[in-house]
Amino acid sequence: MAGSERLGRWSLRLLDEIQRIHPGLLGWAYQRAQAQPFLRARIEREYARILSKLRAELQQSRGRSPSHRRLPERGVAASELLAEMRSAAEREHERWRSGRVSGAVYHGGAEHLQLLSDVYALYSQSNPLHADVWPSTSKYEAEIISMTAGLLGAASASPETPSRVCGSVTSGGTESILLAMKAYRDRARAERNIVRPEIVVPETAHAAFDKAAEYFGIRRVNVPVGADLRADVAAMQAAISDQTIALVASAPSFPHGVIDPVAELGALACARRIGLHVDACLGAFLLPFARELGYPVPPFDFRVRGVTSMSADTHKYGYAAKGTSVVLYGDPELRRYQYFVATDWPGGLYFSPTLSGSRPGALSAACWAALVHLGHQGYLDAARRILETAARIRAGVQRISGLRLLGDSLWIITFGADGFDIYGVLDALSRRGWSLNGLHRPACIHLCVTLRQTEPGIAERFLDDLAESVVEARHAPAGGPGLAPIYGLAARLPVRGAVADLIRRYVDLLYEA
Ligand SMILES: Cc1ncc(COP(=O)(O)O)c(C=O)c1O
Repeated sequence: MAGSERLGRWSLRLLDEIQRIHPGLLGWAYQRAQAQPFLRARIEREYARILSKLRAELQQSRGRSPSHRRLPERGVAASELLAEMRSAAEREHERWRSGRVSGAVYHGGAEHLQLLSDVYALYSQSNPLHADVWPSTSKYEAEIISMTAGLLGAASASPETPSRVCGSVTSGGTESILLAMKAYRDRARAERNIVRPEIVVPETAHAAFDKAAEYFGIRRVNVPVGADLRADVAAMQAAISDQTIALVASAPSFPHGVIDPVAELGALACARRIGLHVDACLGAFLLPFARELGYPVPPFDFRVRGVTSMSADTHKYGYAAKGTSVVLYGDPELRRYQYFVATDWPGGLYFSPTLSGSRPGALSAACWAALVHLGHQGYLDAARRILETAARIRAGVQRISGLRLLGDSLWIITFGADGFDIYGVLDALSRRGWSLNGLHRPACIHLCVTLRQTEPGIAERFLDDLAESVVEARHAPAGGPGLAPIYGLAARLPVRGAVADLIRRYVDLLYEA
């Protein structure tokens, strides 16, 4: 072994040791290690080893269709293209259609998808930015917002005085969250002269709040959750400063599916005169129906005094095509801080309400069609099926020795393992065709139940496969093939900078043609 390599190994061992004794020192040590050529080379070799495994997996899953790294000289015939793309799509559809994917496809019924595709085809050229050319897409968006607000407690006092709750249609949950955080930032700057804005966020809230913080120069003050995995109201209160612009709650949270104590946080937000954003990306189109069906659903929406904005994903349990969500505000003044207006551009007077300029009107049209076609009864039936299936799966997981359920979610089944590697279970399930979500802090995995798992036999098949996977994981040698070592590595790697570097290189891989 070359001297520098031996030194490299020793240094990594030393980093591990430092992490054990003093985690804070390690980030510093990693940065210093990066500055040493021999250590940097060693770290790069480690990355290359992991990435070559990931590249092989990625290339294998990309299939065997011809590649086009350059524009073909002559166009490929439509019939040929369609045949090729149809077979690629079919191969991919098989997995989610069979109900083996957590979340991701929330409806997936053939007739429903046909409706969405037909509507998309009608409007593929439309752009709500040109409301004069496509007034119907503006109407669809206004009605999507109104229908969503109606589900989330935006009651009108009378027909003459409509509710003040208003919003925008966006491209997804992340954009809804980004826009709400920008609106709070700009309002706080204008009305309170806040120049170092902070948001107080339970650590389980979605990474989109980190993204908003990074994009908009906001500090995310992360607050640990309580033993029940819900936001800790006292800790959130203690984290509020004179620069705080908003509190955040989830209904429910992505990792464990639990609903934060929105009523208490609303009271806190009112007392401190700051905003409260409730991220109901996952819950907006299920929780109201769960409540109607008699499930225990605490107050989480605009009925709670203090809730000033919400995110609600139509492309999840709203059963729309991918690419739409709704951001809602308690009053139109706050929404105005979201808009972009340019008055001096030579291209003319310009405004756009959301992050993008041109927008796919076809997606808004398809979203509107999903809402109107399914109607209240359609969503109620879907919720009943999902919640009943989830309860059966939850009870089944509870019966498997060695697994430990986390949180008291209604439809997101999260569990860890006692005495063996939960990521080994994730791998064993993958080998059986399942795609669950790997989570960490604490190490666990989850199945987010959708209509796909309500089809006959899927829940039973999942529980059988899970039981077998647990047996396999108990006997698996540590560091075997598959994703477990990578998830395990990412979860346990002491230096978050190293994990981030690895992920950035993985994203590069996705762009390799
Ligand atoms: C609770 C929650 N918020 C926000 C998001 C982000 O949504 P999107 O992926 O549509 O941007 C998700 C996505 O799963 C989520 O579960």
